[in-house]
Amino acid sequence: MINKPRGTEDILPAGSAIWRKVEQEIHRICKACGYGEIRTPTFESTELFSRGVGSDTDVVKKEMYTFLDKGERSITLRPEGTASAVRAYLENSLYANTQPTKLYYIIPCYRYEKPQSGRLREFHQFGIECFGAASALADAEVIALAAELLKTLNVSGVKININSIGCPACRSGYNEKLRAYLEARKDKLCAACVDRLGRNPMRVMDCKSPVCGEIAASAPKIIDNICGDCREHFDGVRAHLDNIGIEYGINPDIVRGLDYYTRTVFEITSDALGAQSAVCGGGRYDGLVKELGGQDTPGIGFALGLERLVMILKSQQTVFNSDDGVDIFIAAIGAEAELLAMKLARDLRSAGKSAQVDLCGRSVKAQMKYADKLGARFSVVIGDDEVASGTAELKNMETGEKVAVRLDDVGAAISRP
Ligand code: HAM
Repeated sequence: MINKPRGTEDILPAGSAIWRKVEQEIHRICKACGYGEIRTPTFESTELFSRGVGSDTDVVKKEMYTFLDKGERSITLRPEGTASAVRAYLENSLYANTQPTKLYYIIPCYRYEKPQSGRLREFHQFGIECFGAASALADAEVIALAAELLKTLNVSGVKININSIGCPACRSGYNEKLRAYLEARKDKLCAACVDRLGRNPMRVMDCKSPVCGEIAASAPKIIDNICGDCREHFDGVRAHLDNIGIEYGINPDIVRGLDYYTRTVFEITSDALGAQSAVCGGGRYDGLVKELGGQDTPGIGFALGLERLVMILKSQQTVFNSDDGVDIFIAAIGAEAELLAMKLARDLRSAGKSAQVDLCGRSVKAQMKYADKLGARFSVVIGDDEVASGTAELKNMETGEKVAVRLDDVGAAISRP
C-alpha cells in the first residue's frame, strides 16, 4: 500500500463540511471588505521567494520544496502567498487600477518542516494583501478582518498581539545594538545564529533552539528603538483598533519569521493549539513591492492557517450542519425500472435535489438498507407496476409515512415543508 507523504492530510467527506463553512465565511467577509480573490500558481520561480521572503529566513534556507524542472529552471512549491501576490500584482499591472488593491487567496502551501500537531508540510492558508495604502487605518482594517472571521465562526480563547518592527532607517540602528548584545553571547548561540549574526541579527529572534530563544528573550526590543514616524504610525494603529473595539495586546517579542516586514506586525494565537499556537500572522511590508521590481508601494496583509483554525473549531466541538444529506433514494426492481430510476434521478438532480440510485446490483431489501445507511429523507421503489402506471409510493424515511405520487411530481413532493 502506498501511504500519503509525511506531513500531509486527507480531508474526507465526513470532515469537509467544516472546511466549506470556513471557506464560505471567508468569501463573505472578503466581499464585505472589498477584497477580490486571486488564484496564483502552486509553483513559482525559486528566486521569487529567496528575494521576497529573504535568504536568511528558515523558510528559504531550510524549508522550501525546490527542484529543477525538465528545462533546468529552479522551481519552488510556494511556502506562502505574499510573494506570489506581489508578483501577480506587478505582472498584471494591478497598480494601474485605483488603489488600494485588495486581494485574498485560499491556497495550499508547502514547507519542509518537522511534522507535529498543527505543523504540516502541506497546509492551507487564507491570506489577504492590501497594496497601496500606507495609513494606519489600513493596518487596523486588515487586523479587523482576521478578527471578524474568528468572531463569526464563534472562535473563543484567541489573542491578538501586535508589535512594530520599525522601518529600515530605525532598524539599522537597532541591528547594531542587537548585534553587540548577541556578539557578547556568541559562544552560546547555535551555529546557524552565529552565521546570521553578521548579516541579519533579527533572525536570531525566531531561532527554534531553546538556548538561542533564552538569549533572544532578554535582547533589546525593536519596539523600544523605533523612530518618531514609526511610533506615530503604531500609535495610529492602536487608536483605530481601540475605536472599532478590537481587543489586542502588545508583544515586543513578535518579529515574524519572514524578512519583508516593516512597522506593524501581528499574530493571533489560540490556547487550543499547543506548541504551534499561532493561527494567524501578518504585518506591513512597505519595501517588498519595490524589492520585487515594482515602484515604492506600501503593503499589508496576513495569512491564517486553515488546518489550525479547523483544529480550534473541532476542539470547541463546533458543529456545522453538513449539506451532504441525501434527499431521496430511488430503488429499482428490474432492468426497465432501473432505466426509469436513473432518468428520475437525473431530473431531480437537475432540479437541485440530491438523489441516489443503487449502482451495485443490490436486491430490493438491500437497496432499502442502503437508503437507511445514506440517511435519505425519502425513498421510492420502482418496479414493473410503477413503470406502467407512472406513479409510486413515496416514503418519508423518518416517519414511515407513505403517499402515492406521480413520478413527475416527486420533486415537488419532497420539497414540501
Ligand atoms: P506565516 O506566519 O509564515 O506568515 O504563516 C501564516 C500562518 O500559516 C501561521 O500563523 C500558521 O497558522 C500557518 N502555518 C504556517 N506554517 C505552517 C505549517 N507548517 N503547518 C500548518 N500551518 C502553518 C506568512 O505566511 C505570511 N505570508 C503572512 C502574511 C501575508 N504577511 C503579510 N501578508
